[in-house]
Amino acid sequence: MSGNAQRRPLPPERRGLPVLGSAVAFAREPYAFYDDVAGHGDVVRFSLGPIDMVGVLHPDVIESVLVEQFDRFRKPDQNGGVDVLSEGLLLSDGEQWQRQRERLQPMFYRERIETYAETMGEYAAATADEWVAEPGSVDLLEATSTYTLRVLGKTLFGIDTDEHRRAVRAAAEAIRERSSENPVVVSVPDWLPTPKNRRYRRGIERLEGVVDDVLADRSADADGDDLLSLLLNAGGGDAEGAGPTEREVRSQLVTFLFAGHETSASALTWALYELGRKPEVRARLVAEVDAVVDGPYATLADLPALEYTRQILRETLRRYPPAAAIFRETDEQVELGGYRVPADTFVVLPQFHVHTDDRWWDAPLEFDPSRWDDVADPPGDRPEYAYFPFGGGPRHCIGMRFARMELQLALATIARRCRVTHDHGAVGQDVGSTVRPDETVRVTFDHRTE
Ligand code: HEM
Repeated sequence: MSGNAQRRPLPPERRGLPVLGSAVAFAREPYAFYDDVAGHGDVVRFSLGPIDMVGVLHPDVIESVLVEQFDRFRKPDQNGGVDVLSEGLLLSDGEQWQRQRERLQPMFYRERIETYAETMGEYAAATADEWVAEPGSVDLLEATSTYTLRVLGKTLFGIDTDEHRRAVRAAAEAIRERSSENPVVVSVPDWLPTPKNRRYRRGIERLEGVVDDVLADRSADADGDDLLSLLLNAGGGDAEGAGPTEREVRSQLVTFLFAGHETSASALTWALYELGRKPEVRARLVAEVDAVVDGPYATLADLPALEYTRQILRETLRRYPPAAAIFRETDEQVELGGYRVPADTFVVLPQFHVHTDDRWWDAPLEFDPSRWDDVADPPGDRPEYAYFPFGGGPRHCIGMRFARMELQLALATIARRCRVTHDHGAVGQDVGSTVRPDETVRVTFDHRTE
């Protein structure tokens, strides 16, 4: 048990309606809900449906959860109702997680990631040309998801067919729908044939088909050097020295297909949406890419000079953090921000609230990439965990470098080749397992003429 926790008081409580707790308020208006929670302090108790939770809103206490007291927390047992992910890196825990992380980390070293730059740029150019050729407008989230899934499939798994991609998209939708439901609904048993449960099962079955195809293809040629080969060949499953179980390989594949494309697609969607609304941001971006990018697409060598492109992405991940919130469960009683938090309490770290807290950010709801002018490293002149789009500590996002490079290459390439326009006004955020627009954003891509 941590230090003096026993003598500390429980955190202040935000009371909700009986039975449903605060779930209704949260589902309706997550931003307003957390503003209300913040009125009670930086570490606050509330209940979401049947689950008692503690919200942590101060960067220093967030750091304590993710870094300093890392081993006093575990990933929540509930898994958001998505059992198919349970043995993958995102949701595994304890020794299993540690073995997986050590085994997979080399795939994400800088030198390795840099070998993907060419594919990322080339695919961005090809995909942007397809968008331009599309008669009429395109669904922006669908378009960006196609791009991020192409890159992920090609670089990490050797998946390269439209049929496979369609199946992965359908499953990602089903997983998102399932994991975004509020806990009141998640408590409906899986086997009940509700429309959502049926959609989820169908989506997962299609995905299992893709996984079967990929595994069958690979058993003929197991000597590749991509992520899949590493998963299939490396030791370190349930017992030291043993290979991963088939269930673990499947879970890992689904984890990377889901975690690796949905988040980046959300970020690229919001960045392009803002470009279509803010002529001054677009003008500065276009001036930069025209000066830096010489060929048909941005390359690894261009990255250091694409500083404003990077600022737009930093701002996107601040204003629209794709993962929305991080969840943990206490393994034992802990002390957080001067309060006692009992064992087995659900703890939530809401990025979307902290990233727009006016204690750390001027005009926090404004999308303004120039706030990052002359800031070498986020979060700039603020507490470190005022900005944590990729989490932090030992479980920070393993795909962080991959995502940053992919997004920078894609945004620069798209801005070099085409212009995005739309007539949407302020679009709200649907805060689920990822943050996405709460309406279908349709945009037009045209070849640049200026
Ligand atoms: C803009 C894009 C991305 C964002 C904002 C993002 C965000 C995050 C966050 C916040 C976490 C920590 C979750 C926690 O602590 O509970 C995480 C973990 C993870 N991410 Fe990402 N991610 C992105 C892209 C990617 C990509 C491209 C991949 C794979 C290629 C990926 C794979 C993972 C995995 C496997 C984990 C679990 C790591 C572990 O627990 O050891 N993510 N991500």
